[in-house]
Amino acid sequence: MLTRLLVGAVALLPSSVHAIWPIPKEFTSGDNVLYIDQTVEITYNGASVCWISSPNPSCPDREFVDSEILMGQLPYTYGYAPPPGPKCKDKDIVQAAVSRAFEAIFQHNFVPWKLRPAHGDWEPDVYAKDKGRVESLTITHTVNDDETCYKPLAGELDESYTFELTKNGAATIEAQTSVGVLRALETFIQLFYQHSSGTSWYTEIAPVSIKDEPEYPHRGLLLDVSRSWYPVEDILHMIDTLSWNKMNRIHIHMTDSQSWPLEIPAMPKLAEKGSYGKGMTYSPADLAHIQEYASHRGVQVIVEIDMPGHIGSVHHSYPDLIVAYNEKPYHWWCAQPPCGAFKMNSSAVYDFLETLFDDLLPRLAPYSSYFHTGGDELNRNDSMLDEGVRSNDTDVLRPLLQKFLDVNHGRVRKAGLTPMVWEEMAIEWEQNLGKDVVVQSWLGGDAVKNITSKGYKVIDSNYHFWYLDCGRGAWLDFENGAAYNTFYPFNDWCGPTHSWQAGYSHDPRAGLGEEQAKLVLGGEVAVWSETIDPLTVDTIVWPRAGAAGEVLWSGRQDASGTNRSLVDAAARLAEMRERLVARGVRAAHITELWCLQDPDPLACQHAL
Ligand SMILES: *[C@@H]1O[C@H](CO)[C@@H](O)[C@H](O)[C@H]1NC(C)=O
Ligand SMILES: *[C@@H]1O[C@H](CO)[C@@H](O)[C@H](O)[C@H]1NC(C)=O
Ligand SMILES: *[C@@H]1O[C@H](CO)[C@@H](O)[C@H](O)[C@H]1NC(C)=O
Ligand SMILES: *[C@@H]1O[C@H](CO)[C@@H](O)[C@H](O)[C@H]1NC(C)=O
Ligand SMILES: *[C@@H]1O[C@H](CO)[C@@H](O)[C@H](O)[C@H]1NC(C)=O
Repeated sequence: MLTRLLVGAVALLPSSVHAIWPIPKEFTSGDNVLYIDQTVEITYNGASVCWISSPNPSCPDREFVDSEILMGQLPYTYGYAPPPGPKCKDKDIVQAAVSRAFEAIFQHNFVPWKLRPAHGDWEPDVYAKDKGRVESLTITHTVNDDETCYKPLAGELDESYTFELTKNGAATIEAQTSVGVLRALETFIQLFYQHSSGTSWYTEIAPVSIKDEPEYPHRGLLLDVSRSWYPVEDILHMIDTLSWNKMNRIHIHMTDSQSWPLEIPAMPKLAEKGSYGKGMTYSPADLAHIQEYASHRGVQVIVEIDMPGHIGSVHHSYPDLIVAYNEKPYHWWCAQPPCGAFKMNSSAVYDFLETLFDDLLPRLAPYSSYFHTGGDELNRNDSMLDEGVRSNDTDVLRPLLQKFLDVNHGRVRKAGLTPMVWEEMAIEWEQNLGKDVVVQSWLGGDAVKNITSKGYKVIDSNYHFWYLDCGRGAWLDFENGAAYNTFYPFNDWCGPTHSWQAGYSHDPRAGLGEEQAKLVLGGEVAVWSETIDPLTVDTIVWPRAGAAGEVLWSGRQDASGTNRSLVDAAARLAEMRERLVARGVRAAHITELWCLQDPDPLACQHAL
C-alpha cells in the first residue's frame, strides 16, 4: 500500500518516469496506458505505408509498390535501407527509419523492472478487456530534400518536430524535414516498454504532446581510428548509437602517426604500408558506405587528416616528406610516440597534399560539408630537423604554417567543403583563418571565449569534461628506476575519469556574451583510442556520451533558465542505458539497482 502511494506521488514529479533522452524542449504527458502492436496503420505524407501483417494488405497507393514487397510482405525485422548512392529520397529515409523504429519497439525492447519498485505491482494488466492501443501513426513533413543526401552546414537543416499521441491512440509526427521525422521516431520508440508476458508492448503516459528542436546544430563524437583499428561495422554501430541519442556528427580522426588506415587509390602505398595490417584499411567503397549509412540516420561524417603534426605514418610510404618520425626522447618532438611531422618548406609536401586532396575530397563532398585539417600539438622542434627550415623559432614557423593552411584550406573550399581545425592554429599559432572555418576547442579554460572573441565559429570538446578516454591509466611503459618513480602510480595525462555528471555540467556557452555565444555551433565528445578498441568502446563511451548529447540537444538550462538537475537526468539516463542495452550497446551501468528501484527519486541524493 505504501509503495503504491509513493508510486502515485512520484508520477506527479516532473519527468522522473518520463524517460525521454534527450529531454524534449516542451513535453506534457498523462497517465493512460496504451498498447502497441504490429497492426498500427502508418501513413506518410498522406499515403499509406504498408506495414508487415497490416489488416488491410492491399495497399492503395501504387507509388508504394516496392515498399509493399519490402515492408508489406516480409517480416518487420527485415531492415529496409534506401538504395545505395548519394541521391536519396525523403521517402526512402523515412521508410527505413520507420522500419528501424518498429524493430526497436518489438525486437529490441525491455521490461523496466530495474526502474520500478522491487516486488511492486507496477505492470499494466495485459489481459484488460478494454485496453486501448495505438491505432495509427501519421507522419508528415513539409520540406522535400533536393535528392542529395543530407550534408548540412551547421544551422542549415531543420531538425525540429512535433509529436502527439492522443488518449485514443492516434499518433502524429510533423516535421519540416525527413531528419526531423527521424528525431521524432527516436522519441516515439522511447515511449514503449515490453511487457513481461513477452508479447505485448505498451506506454503508460498517454496522452503525450511534444514540441522539440535542438539547442545546437553540431552534436558529435570524435572516433580515433588511428590508435586502434575499428572495422566498418563498429563504426556503423557507433553511428546508430549516436542517432538514438539524437547526435548528428561523427568526426573520424582517420590518420595519425600511429597508423594510416585510409586507402587513397592515387597513392596506394599510404595504406599498404601505413595501416596495422592487410585488411585493416578503409576502401573507397567502405568510406562511401559509412557516409551513406550515416546520412540515412541524420548523421554527417566529418573526416580528419591531422596535419602538419600527427602525420608520422606517412613516413612508411613517403619518408622524404616527414621529419622526426620515431625520434627519441619522444617528448622533445611530439606529445606521444612515434612522432612525425610534415616538412614545412617543401614543395614535395604540397604536391603530395594536392594528390591526396584531389583523390579524397571529391569522394567526401557528396555526403559532407566539412573536412578537418587537424593542427593540434605541433611541436616547434620538429622543424629543427627539416633541412628546408632548421629552426624552432615561432616567428620563422608562423608564416610557413600560414601558407600551409591557406593552400590547404583553399583546396578544401574548392572541393565544396568547409575547413575545420584544432584550436592551436587560432590561439597558440595565431593564424589568420577564414571566418568560415570551424575551430575545434579542446584545452578548456578561456579557449572558447578566446576563439569566439576573434570572430571564429567554434565547437567545444573541452577535455576536462568531454574527453571520454581520460582517467583509465597510462598507456606508455616505465622501466624500473627514475621513470618508474616519476610516473608512479601511472595515471594518464587527463584523469580522473570524467563522470557523466561532469559531462552533463558542462555548458559550452558559459560566460559568453550573446554575440560570442552565437558562434558556438555545439560540441563533440572525444574517444581517443590509445586504450580503447571495438571490444571496450561501448562501455567506456555510453551512456556518458549521451550526457553531452542532452546538453547539446536540450541545452544546459531548461526553459526557465535554470540549470538542469542531475537528479532528474539520472533517472532518465538510467532508463536510456537500459534502452541502449536492449538495442545492442554494451553501455555502462550508472548506479546501483537499489537507487533505481526506489520510487523516491531523491533516494540516492547526496544531500548536504
Ligand atoms: C625542444 O628540444 C629541447 C631539447 O633540445 C627541449 O629542451 C625542449 O623542451 C623541446 N621543446 C619542446 C616544445 O618539446
Ligand atoms: C624555404 O626554402 C627556400 C628555398 O627552397 C629558402 O629560400 C627559404 O629561406 C626557406 N624558408 C625558411 C623559412 O627557411
Ligand atoms: C629550440 O631549440 C633549442 C635548441 O635545441 C632549445 O634549447 C629550445 O628549448 C627550443 N625551443 C623550443 C620552444 O622548444
Ligand atoms: C587568447 O590567447 C592568446 C594566447 O594564449 C592570448 O595571447 C590572448 O590574450 C587571448 N585572447 C583573449 C581575448 O583571451
Ligand atoms: C549552472 O551551471 C554552470 C556550469 O554549467 C555553472 O557555472 C553555474 O554556476 C550554474 N548556475 C547555477 C545557478 O547553479
